[in-house]
Amino acid sequence: MLIAANWKMFKTQSETRAFLERFDPPEGVDVVICPPYTSLGVAVESGRTIYAQNVHWQNEGAYTGEISPAMLVELGVAGSIVGHSERREYFDETDETTAERAEAALAAGLGVIACVGETEEQRDTGMMEGVLRRQVGALPRHDRLVIAYEPVWAIGTGKTATPAICQHAHAFIKSLTDARVIYGGSVNPENAGGLLSQAAVDGALVGGASLDVDSFTAICRLAIPS
Ligand code: PGA
Repeated sequence: MLIAANWKMFKTQSETRAFLERFDPPEGVDVVICPPYTSLGVAVESGRTIYAQNVHWQNEGAYTGEISPAMLVELGVAGSIVGHSERREYFDETDETTAERAEAALAAGLGVIACVGETEEQRDTGMMEGVLRRQVGALPRHDRLVIAYEPVWAIGTGKTATPAICQHAHAFIKSLTDARVIYGGSVNPENAGGLLSQAAVDGALVGGASLDVDSFTAICRLAIPS
């Protein structure tokens, strides 16, 4: 099981240090923390597995505001999220740029969590499978690439996919690729047990509930098979 914390644009360096000093996850679960860029260095010092939230496809160049795979590697960062729906929605990220970012990160030896997922409108109009097929099909195949199924309607909304919806979407994604598939979208300590017990669910990408050390630790505990 892989449990990843996506902190989005939350936590300064001192807040990151305070979280990681208290954080004591159980053995037997792969835990990844994805802080904002400014907190990556502090987070790496904790000895935990740290991923960035995005990464560029070039190792250097005139790309104001971007961070390269080589920069992350030198810092001791182990990987990156790519293609998060907030990047796709607010920063015009596409299937193509997501794939380029993933390929460059993998080539640099980094791990990748690539996000896919349909909007509410796409689900309601029967387009879910087509959208997932397109998004997953654009991604490279690699044993260091994990797919996060994050239905856009469930992110930060408190509307979690039911375990059955989640299982169905994960099984569909797994019919397209060999990658591990983790679930994201309003995961919390109350619903994580039901979601993580589904056969096709290999872990979780946790946003809001990962900001509090006790609630994130509780989710990590629920990932351990009983
Ligand atoms: P959420 O975010 O858990 O706050 O819904 C998940 C994500 O966006 O990765």
